[in-house]
Amino acid sequence: LGTDIRHFMELESTNDYAKTIARDAHEGTVVVAEAQKKGRGRKGFDWVSPQGGVWISIILKPSIVPANASRLTLVGGLAVVDSLKSIGLNPSLKWPNDVLVNGKKICGILTEMEAEIDRVEYIVLGLGINLNFNTDTLPEEIRDGSTTISDELGTYVDRLDFVRSLLYNLEQYYIHFKTQPFEELMERWIDSSDTIGRNVRIVTPSKMVDGRAIGITLSGGLLLQKHDGSTEEIMSGRCIYI
Ligand code: BTN
Repeated sequence: LGTDIRHFMELESTNDYAKTIARDAHEGTVVVAEAQKKGRGRKGFDWVSPQGGVWISIILKPSIVPANASRLTLVGGLAVVDSLKSIGLNPSLKWPNDVLVNGKKICGILTEMEAEIDRVEYIVLGLGINLNFNTDTLPEEIRDGSTTISDELGTYVDRLDFVRSLLYNLEQYYIHFKTQPFEELMERWIDSSDTIGRNVRIVTPSKMVDGRAIGITLSGGLLLQKHDGSTEEIMSGRCIYI
C-alpha cells in the first residue's frame, strides 16, 4: 500500500476524491489531505476535519463479494488500534466503525464501494484520525464524545511517522485478510473491542433493537442476543451503549 500517494493541502473529502480516480488507480493508492472542507461521516453526517488530523483514504481491490465489504472496516480498525498502541495509548473498538480512547471517539472509518452484483470493483477505506489538534476546537455537539491523540498524550505526535505506522499495519492486516480465513481477524477485533458483552441499542432508519452484543459475524455484522432470547445479525446502524 502507498506506492502511489496523492497528497493535498485541502480537499473536499479524500473519500470523494479517491472515488473519482479509483477505477484506473492501482490497488493501494493513498489519498491524504491536511484538511477537508466537506469530510463525510457515516449516514451522511459531516466529519469535522481540521489541520493536524489524519484524513486518509486507501483504494483497495480485493476479490470479495459485496456482502463482505464491511470486513474492511474491521481491518481498518485493527490497524488504527495497533498504531495507537505503539504511541502508548489504550484504544478500543466500538462496532461498527469507531476507535475509542478513554470512551471517546478518536477515529472514524467510512468504507465505501463500487460493486456489481457478485463482485466488488473497488473499495475506498476512509480513515479519519484526530491527531494533533485540541478537542476544544471541535463543534460543541461532538466535543464531549470526542478526543484527539495530542489531548490524550499531552504532546504532539509526528504526523508522517503516524501515517507510516498506520500504512504499515494496514498492509499487514490486508495481506492477512487476502490470504487467510477471516475468523482470526474477527477474533482479534473482538479482543480489542469494548462492544462485545455490552447491552446496546442499535438504531437504524427503520427500527430500533435492544440486546446484548455477543459477537461479530463473518460478514462484519454485530450478533445481538435480544431480551426474548433470540439472536439477530445487525449489518449496520448506530450503536448506543445502554
Ligand atoms: C464516521 O465515524 O462517521 C466515519 C468518519 C470517516 C472520516 C474519514 S476522514 C477521511 C475520509 N474522507 C471522508 O470524507 N471521510 C473519511
